[in-house]
Amino acid sequence: MRDILISALALAGTAFGQACQTTTLQTSLPSNGSEVVLRSYSYCGGIFNGSAYIANLDYNKVVSLAYTNAQGQSTPLSVVNFGYASGVGNGSQWEVWNTSTSLYIDGITELLNLTFQATDIGETYVQTLNLPVNASGAPAPTLPSPPAPYATPKGFGNDITSWLSISVGSESETAFARMFLNINPAVEGAVDGIVVAARSGPTYNQTDPDYEYHWVRDASLTMDVVQTLYAAATKAKPKTQYANILFEYATSRATEQNDPGLQTGLGEPKFYLNNTIFTGPWGRPQNDGPATSAITLMEFANSYLANGGSMDNVKQKIYNSATFSASAPVMKDLLFVASNWSSPSFDLWEEEESDHFYTRMVQRRALVMGASFATKMGDSNTSATLSTAATALTATLGQFWDPNREILLYEYGPVLANKASYLDIAVVLGVIHGYAGDGVYSYTNDEVLSSALRISTSFIDVYAIANTTADSSGRVLGIPIGRYPEDVYNGTGTQVNGGNPWYLCTAAMAQFMYSASTEFGDAGSISITNTSKPFFDYFAPGAGLQVGQSYEFGSNKYNAAINGLNGWGDAFLRTIKYYTPADGHLSEEFNRNTGVAQGAADLTWSYASVLTAAFARAELRGQKAYAKNLANLGVTANTS
Ligand SMILES: *[C@@H]1O[C@H](CO)[C@@H](O)[C@H](O)[C@H]1NC(C)=O
Ligand SMILES: *[C@@H]1O[C@H](CO)[C@@H](O)[C@H](O)[C@H]1NC(C)=O
Ligand SMILES: *[C@@H]1O[C@H](CO)[C@@H](O)[C@H](O)[C@H]1NC(C)=O
Ligand SMILES: *[C@@H]1O[C@H](CO)[C@@H](O)[C@H](O)[C@H]1NC(C)=O
Ligand SMILES: *[C@@H]1O[C@H](CO)[C@@H](O)[C@H](O)[C@H]1NC(C)=O
Ligand SMILES: *[C@@H]1O[C@H](CO)[C@@H](O)[C@H](O)[C@H]1NC(C)=O
Ligand SMILES: *[C@@H]1O[C@H](CO)[C@@H](O)[C@H](O)[C@H]1NC(C)=O
Ligand SMILES: *[C@@H]1O[C@H](CO)[C@@H](O)[C@H](O)[C@H]1NC(C)=O
Ligand SMILES: *[C@@H]1O[C@H](CO)[C@@H](O)[C@H](O)[C@H]1NC(C)=O
Ligand SMILES: *[C@@H]1O[C@H](CO)[C@@H](O)[C@H](O)[C@H]1NC(C)=O
Ligand SMILES: *[C@@H]1O[C@H](CO)[C@@H](O)[C@H](O)[C@H]1NC(C)=O
Ligand SMILES: *[C@@H]1O[C@H](CO)[C@@H](O)[C@H](O)[C@H]1NC(C)=O
Repeated sequence: MRDILISALALAGTAFGQACQTTTLQTSLPSNGSEVVLRSYSYCGGIFNGSAYIANLDYNKVVSLAYTNAQGQSTPLSVVNFGYASGVGNGSQWEVWNTSTSLYIDGITELLNLTFQATDIGETYVQTLNLPVNASGAPAPTLPSPPAPYATPKGFGNDITSWLSISVGSESETAFARMFLNINPAVEGAVDGIVVAARSGPTYNQTDPDYEYHWVRDASLTMDVVQTLYAAATKAKPKTQYANILFEYATSRATEQNDPGLQTGLGEPKFYLNNTIFTGPWGRPQNDGPATSAITLMEFANSYLANGGSMDNVKQKIYNSATFSASAPVMKDLLFVASNWSSPSFDLWEEEESDHFYTRMVQRRALVMGASFATKMGDSNTSATLSTAATALTATLGQFWDPNREILLYEYGPVLANKASYLDIAVVLGVIHGYAGDGVYSYTNDEVLSSALRISTSFIDVYAIANTTADSSGRVLGIPIGRYPEDVYNGTGTQVNGGNPWYLCTAAMAQFMYSASTEFGDAGSISITNTSKPFFDYFAPGAGLQVGQSYEFGSNKYNAAINGLNGWGDAFLRTIKYYTPADGHLSEEFNRNTGVAQGAADLTWSYASVLTAAFARAELRGQKAYAKNLANLGVTANTS
């Protein structure tokens, strides 16, 4: 391409005696014919600053710089995004785009190319650079260690046992009742089998935010609770109610699959309550939905068959899309996952198109479960297709581990603008919703434990309410957990420092703790590695576990570790309890400064997440009657 003239070398401040060097490549506006030109850059104190001229050719521009990291690697992660800084020149023919990105953890040794995608006109322009980069200025910082724990809760709390009890006015009964109000909701035009995401929309006289839609993901996770209730119920009437709801859900999913308006196939994320496609602009596809829907329906089918249900019913109303395409969605969703898992799609927060750990995990579980379920349905051909895809998908999961940060990355691709921590609770949710029970990225995997620690503790310095560490009786409050530390969504719009803790994210950490305890118990021991030790140092410091040691079930140190995990599980739920209004209703989030409930009212997924955490707690405690007693309450008619 063109020659790059290093026309000036400016000195911009000194620290620790060493000058920070800014290299300037382009002093005047570029000549016509160059659409993307790097102006200058510096790499000082671990921060990379860059400035570029971009031709103003369309509205939606994406500007990114590919580099080689300190390990000499260039991957989809070694990319820096630039953002619009200002317009320049006559008639704003040119724009200045800048970046200031913390790169010290990966390091940078060479700039490879600067790429400008003019997305509206479908053009990509590239400036090839191949410029070696030397660090200058202050030394780069090192990755901060996880903090020391602010408390050491131990064991289960009676307050949480009572909050979750099956009794009138308990949070579990409230969550149960409010969740069912949002299934087959009393909204004009709503069809059976759909789930309204929240009681926030025109029908509920609350137009901001408008969540009066059926999201494929939210619905499948809600129906998964119904499926658990179906399996647990021993009274005939409620069991039949749950089965009816789940068969209606299967039909509604098949109707969605056949909607003529699908723009991105079965990854369409959002439908109206009348079960027709929402066609407005949206982050689509979201390819987790077909997977989580299939998981829920296969689990239901397995319980239904175990309860003496007919195989023909399962084939006609759940599984066999090839013959019963109007009523049976599962085979079609599974084959979609098998052929599309490697395509990028939008994440569960609907923000970024990339390869997501969450999506891969739920897709994997669908494929692994699907392979044996298809065999049960006598469909060895589909089973073989799903197995092959599961094996190929599993081989990609290792790329999500970031050894420099000691976390599983929430996505494998360029970092979402400003999401510099690379942390997202989606990783923990990926294990909760996507662990297939076969030892691959389970709750006790040391990479998963390390990630759960670093993600959960990242919110301590972000939310002011994290400074309230005990309730009025002095019982420990867990860390309030949001989606990711840099979140700016406040429940209706975006705001600087606007992101808040979410009920469902905080419940996810509780559920994670309980399920990890259960899994350690099933394994019969806890083994400590360099990767997992920080997790135990934070959540069970008193146990004093050591790298390379294995602690047998029932030993003092084992018990101390498990007590710590269980104590934190209850502490996370106590945070939800503390910030739940007196009427027990759960919205989407609670304010980071005041703790006051905020965002969509009666978010269905919030209720589902408290119930799944309660089920995990009961399972850990061997309380088999818990889910049964809740299930046997049955559903009262939806009139409000
Ligand atoms: C660049 O192109 C614009 C628009 O075609 C034209 O008006 C301008 O004179 C050109 N400038 C140079 C330096 O060639
Ligand atoms: C890099 O950019 C940041 C933010 O604009 C600024 O504060 C800092 O001084 C810049 N560093 C250098 C070396 O230019
Ligand atoms: C963009 O970076 C250039 C070069 O460092 C700087 O002069 C300019 O002020 C920056 N613009 C903004 C809006 O930060
Ligand atoms: C902008 O255009 C006007 C008229 O064509 C010209 O007089 C002026 O010098 C230009 N300014 C710049 C900064 O190029
Ligand atoms: C820029 O460099 C990266 C890393 O070598 C490469 O993967 C990418 O294809 C290049 N981009 C363009 C548009 O050439
Ligand atoms: C980087 O450092 C090497 C070795 O010290 C030196 O030869 C080279 O000129 C430097 N490059 C830049 C762009 O400063
Ligand atoms: C919404 O407002 C209308 C008109 O005031 C009222 O009839 C209706 O009951 C309200 N709905 C809810 C859910 O509050
Ligand atoms: C479904 O509801 C949407 C939104 O209210 C409406 O635009 C659409 O026409 C409805 N479709 C059918 C088939 O009723
Ligand atoms: C899904 O896979 C099919 C078959 O390979 C392909 O035609 C389709 O484009 C894929 N859809 C998406 C959303 O990736
Ligand atoms: C097996 O499945 C593949 C892919 O779904 C299909 O193309 C093929 O026709 C099937 N073969 C049989 C024997 O059903
Ligand atoms: C928490 O309290 C400490 C000590 O008062 C203060 O330094 C810190 O900024 C507070 N954190 C937040 C997030 O408000
Ligand atoms: C959320 O942000 C929007 C701006 O996008 C603002 O209008 C609104 O007041 C904020 N909500 C709260 C509860 O602060």
